[in-house]
Amino acid sequence: MIRFENVKKVYPGTGKSPDIVALQNVNLHIGKGEFVFVLGHSGAGKSTFLKLILREEAATEGRVIVNGWDLSTIKNREIPYLRRGLGVVFQDFRLIPTMTAYENVAFAMRVTNIPEKQIKRRVPYVLNLVGLRDKAYSLPQELSGGEQQRIALARALVHSPPIIIADEPTGNIDPELGVEIMELLQAINTVGTTVVVVTHERDLALRFHKRVITIDHGEVVADAPAAPRRRRTPAEAAAPTAAQRGSAPGQPARPARPAAARTGRPAAPRHTGAAKGGEQP
Ligand SMILES: Nc1ncnc2c1ncn2[C@@H]1O[C@H](COP(=O)(O)OP(=O)(O)OP(=O)(O)O)[C@@H](O)[C@H]1O
Ligand SMILES: [Mg+2]
Repeated sequence: MIRFENVKKVYPGTGKSPDIVALQNVNLHIGKGEFVFVLGHSGAGKSTFLKLILREEAATEGRVIVNGWDLSTIKNREIPYLRRGLGVVFQDFRLIPTMTAYENVAFAMRVTNIPEKQIKRRVPYVLNLVGLRDKAYSLPQELSGGEQQRIALARALVHSPPIIIADEPTGNIDPELGVEIMELLQAINTVGTTVVVVTHERDLALRFHKRVITIDHGEVVADAPAAPRRRRTPAEAAAPTAAQRGSAPGQPARPARPAAARTGRPAAPRHTGAAKGGEQP
């Protein structure tokens, strides 16, 4: 899926400023279906790592291979195809302010010339997946930060990419909403999508017992595999879940909670029989 072989990235200096070695000696492999955190302090090289995967920047030395594309030899006209296989949730969401939630997601399909009929079927499906079908006609400014982020996630999911990358997914939202987006990413991972979460938050990276790749001063200084899931103690098993705590007895859990996060798997499409072979998240 993603392979770095002896990768070095140097940003050239500009006469007065020196060359900056943003990454060096990076060797790693992220396999299909993995859920990986990339952890590092400010300036460690996390965004550079993402930019190399997206081919917004080219490696100075070494090879980056993503979804079978060798990014040291990829042609400019092939880069859109590379990017179609990568769903990215940017830290600042990058939604178009004058477009509704629906249009923001649909736009990502229109620019790749997907037929309107397919767009009309797919967009409600992904909005439902992130629990925001009822906000389809809201503008970004009418949505909370967490909702905007889920729209950004819906947009990232629209092409059913094999890899989802989230840059600081909890950075711009309340901690509680951060948990929601992480649950959603886990649900997406459960159905086979590779998920890479970039963060500077150590607690976040450790909380989920997933693989954690730590970058420091441009080098991978630790690569800790996912911890085997511990069996819950009887007391933990008996404790109410977050969803149960959030609702009065006999009442359903909060409706704002994304369907996929509640069930641990993506919500089923509401339409029936329309999708050939079923929709992919
Ligand atoms: N376009 C650029 N030109 C020159 N230097 C750059 C450029 N982009 C990043 N750098 C430098 O490369 C190093 C790594 O930066 P990068 O943006 O990858 O860090 P980061 O881990 O994403 O940090 P943050 O958490 O603050 O976003 C830093 O020293 C930074 O100043
Ligand atoms: Mg960064």
